[in-house]
Amino acid sequence: MKKTLTALGAAAVGAVAVRDLTQKQHALKRNFPVIANLRYLLEAVGPELRQYIVTGNDDERPFSRDQRRWVYASAKLQNNYFGFGTDNDLEGRTGYPIIKQRTFADVAPSRHAHSGEETPLPCAKVIGLARGRAKAFRPASVVNISGMSYGSLSSNAIMALNRGAELAGCLQNTGEGALSPYHRQGGDLVFQIGTSYFGCRDEDGAFDLDRLVELCAGAPVRMVEIKLSQGAKPGLGGMLPGVKVTEEIAEIRGIKPGVDCASPSRHAEFHDVDSLLDFVETIAAATGLPVGIKSAVGNMDFWDELIAAMTPERMVDFVNIDGGEGGTGAAPLVFADSVAFPFRVGFAKVYKRFAEAGLTDDITFIGAGKLGLPDNALVAFALGCDMVNVGREAMLAIGCIQAQKCHTDECPTGVATQRPWLMHGLDPELKSARAANYVKTLRRDLLKVSEAVGVAHPALITADDIDLIDGLQSSRPLREVYGYGRGWGTVGATLAKEIETIMAEATAEHPA
Ligand SMILES: Cc1cc2nc3c(=O)[nH]c(=O)nc-3n(C[C@H](O)[C@H](O)[C@H](O)COP(=O)(O)O)c2cc1C
Ligand code: SF4
Repeated sequence: MKKTLTALGAAAVGAVAVRDLTQKQHALKRNFPVIANLRYLLEAVGPELRQYIVTGNDDERPFSRDQRRWVYASAKLQNNYFGFGTDNDLEGRTGYPIIKQRTFADVAPSRHAHSGEETPLPCAKVIGLARGRAKAFRPASVVNISGMSYGSLSSNAIMALNRGAELAGCLQNTGEGALSPYHRQGGDLVFQIGTSYFGCRDEDGAFDLDRLVELCAGAPVRMVEIKLSQGAKPGLGGMLPGVKVTEEIAEIRGIKPGVDCASPSRHAEFHDVDSLLDFVETIAAATGLPVGIKSAVGNMDFWDELIAAMTPERMVDFVNIDGGEGGTGAAPLVFADSVAFPFRVGFAKVYKRFAEAGLTDDITFIGAGKLGLPDNALVAFALGCDMVNVGREAMLAIGCIQAQKCHTDECPTGVATQRPWLMHGLDPELKSARAANYVKTLRRDLLKVSEAVGVAHPALITADDIDLIDGLQSSRPLREVYGYGRGWGTVGATLAKEIETIMAEATAEHPA
């Protein structure tokens, strides 16, 4: 009898193992058959357990359980509604954003839960138009995938994100680790140039313009981003741990396999705003593409000097601000925790300077730093962002469980590892659909909230449309909190008319 029971138990475990190994829905189960089911069991009974012990829905960081649940459900096209009202402490949290809906407005909010998912939500600006770049373009999506290199992420993750970008009609930024074959799955690209010039450097590691031109011509690269710094490690170069530097990555980047790959903290091609603007113009002239910068915000002298040095003949086409709360594959704690301003403070400081110089309609503003959540993204738009980039939220959409082991090469879900056995659990085809679903759902929420505020597009939300709760008794509009002038945070009248016309046509083609 005992033997029969043991045999039955073994057969059941074997059957579960076979099922887990052959399914493609869950990378964790494919990589850790049988045992991984415990996680899903705990996830199922977790809320009840956690009600009495462990943490609350909003306690975990960087992303709370509620935030992750929203991303997971959106990516799987499951019901991402929350029942019984909010469990957030709205009145007790200083700085909590409140979006102010309008009772009467010309724009009619759509009625159905899924309406808006297929409605295009393009950028309100044509990037590179003001400077007359040959390949100026209007990005088709206000939500795009942030720079994350092949090397930091696995080949399967890069493929899933690139195909996802194609399905959602958005851009994928290559990150500083060059353009790999995995970035060539159909999605449009932003090519990022980091301090090591991976993908566009000569044998000695110096920047090679001809290589860049060749690379941009041979792939669907729509614009070039010069990375000055990153929110999670500003003033510090990049670091890919040796365990993740495979032969292939070494080949793509032009470095030694198995050895830590450190990028310098500053560029060798320019040393001040003047030489930076020359570098921008050189690349734009040679490729025809719009060229911009990505930076975290620290000392403001750089921005004052940049704005003072810009002329209609010499300017950056876009500015991408990364908040200090941003993510990375690996960074020292003090850099991740304490260097550079968080997104809202840093972005507002920069935007104000461009607004005072009357340049905001000529430059496209992009933001990153937990902006892949609707409320954060809406605050970003109200502060003047034209597009948001999503990094870790896109990783969550393709299976990341926030295990925070990205720097160890032991990522259990195959997202941030170079180990073939771990990466095999991540099915690029299935996860590309999840990445696309997530981007589309975020766009839908941005559109719906814009309509509730009474405008046709998130770029038309102003710094007066959102308040921050200020203790128990009051709230203050973003405009006041961040010292904005009237009309800042949105686009000028001509651009507003243009995007209203585009949205009227788009919503007519995709009725509620
Ligand atoms: C695994 C990983 C790798 C990253 N690699 C790069 C990179 O190569 N270049 C870059 O500019 N930013 C890089 N970032 C930062 C992201 O592009 C983004 O700015 C940051 O994570 C904030 O966005 P998020 O809060 O949506 O993740 C990386 C982030 C992560 C998590
Ligand atoms: S699952 Fe963990 S190790 Fe993998 S990408 Fe997510 S946070 Fe990084």
